[in-house]
Amino acid sequence: MPATPRIEAPVRWAALGAFAVMAAFASAAAAGNPVAGKEKTRACVTCHGIDGMSRVPNAPNLAGQNEWYLAKQLSDYRAGKRTHQIMSIIARNLSDADIDDLAAWYASIKITVTLPD
Ligand code: HEC
Repeated sequence: MPATPRIEAPVRWAALGAFAVMAAFASAAAAGNPVAGKEKTRACVTCHGIDGMSRVPNAPNLAGQNEWYLAKQLSDYRAGKRTHQIMSIIARNLSDADIDDLAAWYASIKITVTLPD
């Protein structure tokens, strides 16, 4: 049956891809301290608020965002993989612990979502 291997190969690769994503997630999973993170938001509140709700139109809301995602973005700004005139400068001075703690703080904020009528 020539059709079977043609179907199986992509499925195997997809499974492998999903596994790789999960492995990457696990290894980058931050173990930040949200209490320490709250203390470190002094450099962030003008734009993102202490509650993670944006204070300026060009800054995104961070409240309730996925912790791994937040840590990844800050690491990417610091490494120059993601660039922005403000965030690249801010992230340059953050330690690994700062990134994990800030991500933990903003991720720990509880948000509710209400769909429009
Ligand atoms: C002067 C304003 C300003 C300050 C201060 C600031 N940010 Fe930002 N931040 C921005 C803007 C604008 C963006 C969107 C950048 C882009 O388009 O890449 C951003 C993006 C981000 C993102 C990516 C969000 C996403 O949805 O991808 C994170 C995470 C973040 N900031 C965290 C922080 C943290 C933590 C601090 C404090 C240490 C901080 N920012 C301080 C303006 C600011």
